[in-house]
Amino acid sequence: MHTPVLLEESTDLLLGGGGRLFVDCTLGLGGHARRILEKNPQAFVIGIDRDEEAIELARENLREFEWRFFIYKADFADLDEVLRAEGIDKVDGFLFDLGVSMLQLKSERGFSFQIEAPLDMRMDKDQKLTAYKIVNEYPERELARIIWEYGEEKLSRKIARAIVRYRKKKPIETTKELAEIVLSVYPERLKHGRIHPATRTFQAIRIEVNRELESLKIALEKTPDLLNPKGRLVVISFHSLEDRIVKNFFKEHSDIFRVLTKKPITPSEEEIKMNPASRSAKLRAGERI
Ligand SMILES: C[S@@+](CC[C@H](N)C(=O)[O-])C[C@H]1O[C@@H](n2cnc3c(N)ncnc32)[C@H](O)[C@@H]1O
Repeated sequence: MHTPVLLEESTDLLLGGGGRLFVDCTLGLGGHARRILEKNPQAFVIGIDRDEEAIELARENLREFEWRFFIYKADFADLDEVLRAEGIDKVDGFLFDLGVSMLQLKSERGFSFQIEAPLDMRMDKDQKLTAYKIVNEYPERELARIIWEYGEEKLSRKIARAIVRYRKKKPIETTKELAEIVLSVYPERLKHGRIHPATRTFQAIRIEVNRELESLKIALEKTPDLLNPKGRLVVISFHSLEDRIVKNFFKEHSDIFRVLTKKPITPSEEEIKMNPASRSAKLRAGERI
C-alpha cells in the first residue's frame, strides 16, 4: 500500500545518536516505525498521525511490537502535548516523512486527480476545512495566491479565474471536474509535459486544506527543547517548499543542531526505479548539540 522512502538512510540516521525513545511524527502505515523497532530491539516508538485510517493499519502492521509501540492521533504540530500526556520530557529522535501516503493518494478522498472522488483532501476527517470549501468559496485572489505559492504554478491567475467562472454556473464537486478546469487553461503545447497540468494545483489545495507548511514550521520549532543531547532530527520532504523550511530551520539553529547531511540525501536510481513516487524525496538530518 505504501513503500517507505529512503527507509534505511533515514532510520540509520535517526538511531545513530544512540538512545531508545523515538517519535515517528508521520506514522502512516508504519514502514519506518517497523524498521526502527527491528533494527534496535531496545527501542520504543511513539507514532503520531492525524489520519485515523492510517493509524488502524499501522496498529495491525505493528502488532508484534505492541509493548514497544504507542500511537497517538494528533497533528504533529502538537507533538509537545503528546509527549506531555505520556509524561515524557525528552526523546532521542524525531522522524518526519512528510506529505501523503499511497493509502491516501489511492483512496477516494480526493487527493488525486487520477481517481474520481469528491473534493475533500483532509488527512484528518474531524477537520472542517475541505478542498470543496476552498475551491467553491475562496475569493479568486486568494485562490490565485494559494496556487501560486503552494503549487508554484505559473498559470495560477488563469486557473483561479477559470475556477470562479465555472463555479458561477455550478459547484465544483469532484477531482475530475477540477482537473478538467485546470487542463482547459493550459495551452496545447504545455499539456503533455513530464507532469500532468493538474499536479501543481492539487498539491496547492492539499497544502492549504491540511495547513501543511504551518504544521511543519511549528513542529520543527518545538523539537530542540524535547531532544536529548545527541538526539536526532530527521526529515524527508517531497517538494521545494517543505525542503526550504527544513533547510532554513537547520541554518537558523546552527547553535543547537550539528547538520549531518551537508547536502540532502536523495533516493538512489534503484530506489526510484522500484518506487517512482520517491523521486522528489530529500532527506536532511541534524544532531542536537
Ligand atoms: C508519507 S506518509 C508516511 C509513511 C510512513 N513513513 C510509512 O512508512 O508508512 C505521511 C503520513 O503523515 C501524516 N501526516 C502528514 N502531516 C501530518 C501532520 N501535520 N500531523 C500528523 N500526521 C501528518 C499523513 O496522514 C500520512 O499518513
